[in-house]
Amino acid sequence: MTDLPKKLHIKTYGCQMNVYDSERMTEAMVAQGYVATDTPEDADLILLNTCHIREKAAEKVYSDLGRLKPLKAANPDLRIGVAGCVAQAEGAEIMARQPAVDLVVGPQAYHRLPGLVARANAGEQALDTDMPEEDKFEHLPQSRGPAPRPTAFLTVQEGCDKFCAFCVVPYTRGAEVSRPAARLLSEARALVARGVREITLLGQNVNAYHGDGPDGRTWGLADLIWALDGIDGLERIRFTTSHPNDMDDALIDAHGTCSKLMPYLHLPVQSGSDRILKAMNRKHTAAQYIEVIDRLRSARPDLLLSGDFIVGFPGETEEDFQDTLRLVERVGYGQAYSFKYSARPGTPAAEKAHVSSEVATDRLHRLQALLSEQQYAVQASMVGREVSVLFEKAGRQPGQLIGKSEYLHAVHAVAPDSLLGQVARVRVTEAKTNSLAADLI
Ligand code: 5AD
Ligand code: SF4
Repeated sequence: MTDLPKKLHIKTYGCQMNVYDSERMTEAMVAQGYVATDTPEDADLILLNTCHIREKAAEKVYSDLGRLKPLKAANPDLRIGVAGCVAQAEGAEIMARQPAVDLVVGPQAYHRLPGLVARANAGEQALDTDMPEEDKFEHLPQSRGPAPRPTAFLTVQEGCDKFCAFCVVPYTRGAEVSRPAARLLSEARALVARGVREITLLGQNVNAYHGDGPDGRTWGLADLIWALDGIDGLERIRFTTSHPNDMDDALIDAHGTCSKLMPYLHLPVQSGSDRILKAMNRKHTAAQYIEVIDRLRSARPDLLLSGDFIVGFPGETEEDFQDTLRLVERVGYGQAYSFKYSARPGTPAAEKAHVSSEVATDRLHRLQALLSEQQYAVQASMVGREVSVLFEKAGRQPGQLIGKSEYLHAVHAVAPDSLLGQVARVRVTEAKTNSLAADLI
């Protein structure tokens, strides 16, 4: 039995940054001889790559750990690890609360994962929540061979210095750090050589990117986008998540002039009330946000906007909430996420008096009704239009392929397999609840 490769199962919670990190951790362990498995039951190493953003996400980790614990009785060699933002925030407390956990690794220490796994396998304490100076990605192996999908994430910036009063990210991911542009361009070229056609640049504050440029200058996100635009074979560029205060002129302009930059932007505002925005320490008003949106739309009139909203922030009145609804009406979102405020330990807002849960739930439902209406109207407006689709995989019906339009709508069409991994023009024929049907042109 001992010569069988060990199996690794990773479950990912939370944001796209975690998705990216899970892929890097998988690669690091594959380089150690592990193979990936989709099922926890046959794994020798289970990693939960966790999210701390809201209480529900963090608590889910403990209920999942409780469910995984009995697997250790069946396989005494099984090791269970907690990675990600819960690992960073709670550290050794995790092992105290759930003794089945053998290993805890924070998001800035993934390059040390193989060593930690070896320690856990030797029955030693395996905990690392350091935030070392070095770039973990420089120490993680790069994949080779054809890419599994034509779309890929690329982390260009991590961490946050903004300290919104509700948010754990500055504590779990640390201070803002941008990776050098030359390194990112060579990774992007390698992805394209492996068949990737669309790259989504990731960062907790991606538009605050300020990396060392190959020309000795500090590059902003627009500089990086323009350099990526020059890579033959790369067809689409996206980025997420952005802060309104970092939308500079060059980046707004790129939305109108860079044809590879897709007309979709996730630009969270959180609230439409200036009083609440101030209490959230957002450092912008509703009017300033709308001004940025208007400038983006004059650069790129068909830009599809996405956002994040929090309802029930401490002190939010019905009048403040009405301001949020008014802002949503004014902006018109194609897609959005909305959340009930969740008090996070260690954040400034957690100390403040809370809005009752019933009131927050009621506001969430009213906001979501408006956002769904807008989302559906935008989807319906696509019918009859010509869009481009990057086909990613086989659809549910025989002969069908499914992919994303430039506006990030899921689109399915009858198309030959030869179009997998390719961008094709289609005409939208029908808007369904979660996708668009289309015909090849
Ligand atoms: N409570 C509820 N939602 C939150 N978010 C961040 N922190 C909290 C919190 N404490 C939301 C914000 C952010 C998104 C990623 O999660 O809307 O933009
Ligand atoms: Fe969750 Fe934020 Fe960590 Fe992403 S960075 S996993 S959203 S806490």
